[in-house]
Formats: sequence, structure tokens, C-alpha cells
Amino acid sequence: MEKNVDPYEKVAQFYPQVQWDALQPMVEEINALKKEKNAVILAHNYMTPDIYHGVADIVGDSLKLAQEAAKTKANVIVQAGVHFMAETSKILCMDKTVLIPDMKAGCSLAESMTGADVRLLKEKYPGVPIVTYVNTTADVKAETDICCTSGNVVKIIKKLRDEGHKQVFCIPDKYLAQNTQAQVPDIQILTWEGACEVHEKFTTQDIQKYRDQYKDVIVLAHPECPADVVKAADLSGSTAQMIDYVQDKQPERVILITECSMGDNITATNPNVEFIRSCQLCPHMKRITLPKILHSLKTMTTEILVDPDIAAKAKRAVDRMLEYSA
Ligand code: 13P
Ligand code: SF4
Repeated sequence: MEKNVDPYEKVAQFYPQVQWDALQPMVEEINALKKEKNAVILAHNYMTPDIYHGVADIVGDSLKLAQEAAKTKANVIVQAGVHFMAETSKILCMDKTVLIPDMKAGCSLAESMTGADVRLLKEKYPGVPIVTYVNTTADVKAETDICCTSGNVVKIIKKLRDEGHKQVFCIPDKYLAQNTQAQVPDIQILTWEGACEVHEKFTTQDIQKYRDQYKDVIVLAHPECPADVVKAADLSGSTAQMIDYVQDKQPERVILITECSMGDNITATNPNVEFIRSCQLCPHMKRITLPKILHSLKTMTTEILVDPDIAAKAKRAVDRMLEYSA
């Protein structure tokens, strides 16, 4: 994050001064505790602006957060994100303390599949490589060949195609699989019945209505959206890829078909872009709040623990993803 910039400048549109005055002592206390405990806060792009601009050390999509977890020198990682993200950090850094401010911050995709489900798929389809979205539990990762995120799934599936595979599993998100299939038609992508409860709510009718009302609006959609929604968008990509697009291209008007905080977090740094609101809240991400981060650092809770054997197997799949994305 930028140093020596008053975080209020970046969040003024969302917090009246009086509200920020109440939050500021908490921001300062968290930042002091981070130094005292040699802790780092890894925050996903869906965190609210007070977290994103006030206390996060690293912000990014799932891929960037995993890359940063793998190389941090801090003793403690506070994951401002959902459980699977914290578990991924732990898998990569078994010697570090990884904390999540709310253990109930889950994910409908991670809950859609178990390690036993993957074992059954492997029995039924021997030899078919299993690419698993990072939005899964350590148990599921431990059973798979390679992980992926929305930022590198196309690259990874293309690599497997180039190695001569004719079929591949991309699990558990059926929409991520369908959207990837559209970009890589010359390998058959098999999938699972998982879906993101946030992104599956978007429809093409919504997009058409926005296009009718806001002429020339650029529509960016996350690949967890249904395939027809992604088709109706101008571009699809991970949360970081959407942010990069806005920053590089500076569209006059844009709609981010994803979680609400994304637009809020980049509004101040893109003053010439008009953000049209069409977003959904992720109830799991929104469990992470400034008071809970403060409590987490003060009490060093709640610690993420992963069975070492499962972690070692899961790490192979995550490491392979990081190598492929380097
Ligand atoms: P990104 O990797 O694109 O940030 O997505 C993570 C996620 O959970 C989106 O819902
Ligand atoms: Fe999971 Fe969807 Fe929330 Fe992302 S937005 S954490 S995929 S439920």
C-alpha cells in the first residue's frame, strides 16, 4: 500500500468525517499491533474500503494473496478474506501463525465439494488431470493435481492441452469451467455442480437494462458468473484483472459485475471513471470487519490449523499453480 497517504483521502466518499473519526483510533491500533507482532494483513479486493485503504499491507485477488503469502517474512498473517484464502496461506507457510478474524467467513464454492468427492472422480476418470479452483478446502486441494484461480485458469488449462491432454476436470465451479471452455475449446472440460452464491445471481437481463440506460458503458464480469452473463460482458477476468483494466483503459463508464466493495475500493484512485453500481454483497467476505481484525491481532485468534499430511499434499497443487503462473 502507498505509504504516507492519509487513508481518509481514499475513503472520504464512503465515510463521513465523523464516522472516520470513530474508526481512525482502531486503524491506528491495528497498524501499531502489526508492527509489534511482525504481522502482515493480506486483504482481498472485496474487503470494505476502511480495511482495504486503512490497514491492509497487501491487497489483491486470490492469486496475488497466495503469491504474497508464499514470500512474506512476517511471523503472523492476518487474512482479511474468507476461510479458504486463510487456509491457502497456512498451507504455504506452515511455520507461520495464520489468523482469520471470523471463522464463519466461508464460501459456497468451498462448501460444494469434499476430498471424498474428488477421490470418486479420480476412480471414475483415471488419468484425467484435476484442476481445482483455490476456492476449496485443504482436503480437496490435497486430492488434486494443480490449483488455479480465476486469474490463471485459462493459462493452466491451455498448458495441459499443450501437454496432449484431451480432457481435464476444472472443479468445483461449473461456471468457471464453462467460461474457460469457451476460451479453450480444443480440450474437453469436465466439472462439478458448484457455484458462487453471489455471482450466480447476475442475469443478462440486468446487463441489457444497464446498457439501455447507460450508453457506451463497459461491462466487466467475473468468470464465476453464468456463461450467458460473461458472454454479454465486454471482458471477463479475476478481480485484479478487472482493476487493471479500469486503471489502464480509464473507461468513461464501467459496471463491475462482481462484489460491491470492488468498485468502492478503486473509485478514489480513478476519479475520471464513472462507476455504475450493479453489484452483490458476499455475506462471507462482509463478516470481516475492522473491529474483528483488531480483536484478532490482540488475542491472536482464530488460528488456522491444517493437518501436516493434508497440507503437504495440498501445497504440491498450490506450488504447481504458482510455478505455472510465474
Ligand atoms: P479472485 O481470485 O478473482 O479475486 O476471486 C476470488 C473470489 O472469491 C471471487 O468471488
Ligand atoms: Fe465464495 Fe462467491 Fe463469496 Fe467469492 S464471492 S468468497 S466465490 S461466495
